[in-house]
Amino acid sequence: MKTLHLAAYAAVLSMLAAAPVGADEPGPGGSRPPVAKTGADVYRMYCQACHMADAKGAVGAAAFPPLADNPRMGTTAYAIYVIQEGKGGMPPFKAMLSRDQTAAVVAYLRTHFGNSYAEPVTATDVPP
Ligand code: HEC
Repeated sequence: MKTLHLAAYAAVLSMLAAAPVGADEPGPGGSRPPVAKTGADVYRMYCQACHMADAKGAVGAAAFPPLADNPRMGTTAYAIYVIQEGKGGMPPFKAMLSRDQTAAVVAYLRTHFGNSYAEPVTATDVPP
């Protein structure tokens, strides 16, 4: 009886081991880092450390300007330029974010945190 149980257990284990359970999927246990797909993802992963979760910025060892209620978010090209090229204490993100990701985070910021600039932003607005 006992050996039968063990054999069944071993069979189940080998099935589990053989199944490619999300081997290359992002997330816990995956072998690739998670990829930011939406503007909210990009913001959370790349921006909120400095600009804060509420986008109100912070003043401390360094000053991080608020992106919330920020009339400069009305100028898409300005936000895209700062994100791609960096400015002062902000690092450039051109090498880290795709054109889609850059457009997504700008569109997200323009329509959240008290900003309401509904005009869409797409990858074609972002210089290659
Ligand atoms: C390491 C900290 C840091 C990170 C990370 C960061 N920023 Fe910034 N950001 C700054 C600082 C500092 C400034 C002010 C630069 C200046 O004016 O000298 C700034 C300025 C900006 C501005 C211009 C605001 C204005 O009123 O002129 C925008 C837009 C912006 N950041 C968006 C983003 C986005 C989007 C991300 C994520 C992709 C991001 N930032 C990530 C530090 C950061």
